[in-house]
Amino acid sequence: DWTMAEFRDAKIAEIREQVGDARVICGLSGGVDSAVAAVLIHEAIGDQLTCVFVDHGLLRSGEAEQVVGLFRGSYNIPLVHVQAETLFLHGLAGVTDPEQKRKFIGKTFIDVFEEEAKKIGGAQFLAQGTLYPDVIESVSFTGGPSVTIKSHHNVGGLPERMNMKLVEPLRELFKDEVRALGKELGLPEAFVGRHPFPGPGLAIRIPGEVSKERCDILRKADAIYLEEIRSAGLYDAIWQAFAVLLPVRTVGVMGDGRTYDHVLALRAVTSTDGMTAEVFPFPGDFLPRVATRIVNEVRGVNRVVYDYTSKPPGTIEWE
Ligand code: XMP
Repeated sequence: DWTMAEFRDAKIAEIREQVGDARVICGLSGGVDSAVAAVLIHEAIGDQLTCVFVDHGLLRSGEAEQVVGLFRGSYNIPLVHVQAETLFLHGLAGVTDPEQKRKFIGKTFIDVFEEEAKKIGGAQFLAQGTLYPDVIESVSFTGGPSVTIKSHHNVGGLPERMNMKLVEPLRELFKDEVRALGKELGLPEAFVGRHPFPGPGLAIRIPGEVSKERCDILRKADAIYLEEIRSAGLYDAIWQAFAVLLPVRTVGVMGDGRTYDHVLALRAVTSTDGMTAEVFPFPGDFLPRVATRIVNEVRGVNRVVYDYTSKPPGTIEWE
């Protein structure tokens, strides 16, 4: 039976062995997994590591500031902050198929990492916070013919030809183990306890075409939802909660006027590893209150619905 301290030490030795004196680029997504991977690798190889945080314009509100603050402020780990909103949103224009979105985002991340690798004089390795469930769900479901459920941006979304070799020290771990490792490495409790956030970001929470305007609407609504969850003291009881902006408009009435605006879906689930999930049962007055706030405060949304689907048969994200 391994303790997390032993796991950490074994991984540090393994990373040193794999990497030698080469340079490593680590892609930070803003989530827990890539942050834990980065801090672990930094303990192993110090300044041979450069972290790259790609702001693809598909982040939640305030996310970029939090990540940059943590890495530059608390850890003093070299971090390149790439502003790539235009690159990503331009490439996503006209794309509506979920797998095409994922593949484009995966490939564009790699393009950006390769460009940054050149700038630091070449990196032979790309580090990612890939977890065990990412690998399984991206590749196949056991027991039947091999079927891809979703190409995770950091697994099945990778281009076939890539110049860098992968370093994935969390590949055998589940989420709760990554959180324990994060604590072992001294990451702040609040950061380690954050809900998972997918690498493709808001793009897979906007069925249909993604645009800057739609991302802005979703960001506002999502922030209200999470703010209410936090102030109700429910954040830690939930595995993941988020809003989805639907490409559907419905008729409503506000004041004396008719509205014709987007539908927003709210999702909240409990889970231990993300592979199965149950709907989170909010107390009775919670959802109506959130719905009222969102419709009143977010222009472009006039109806809010709640997703009651468990996984399976639903997945957690909508795409
Ligand atoms: P699904 O939607 O497949 O999601 O039930 C299971 C968990 O994985 C997260 N997820 C991703 N994480 N890159 C990631 O880093 C991805 O491409 C990706 N797709 C889904 C999802 O948020 C949930 O926690």
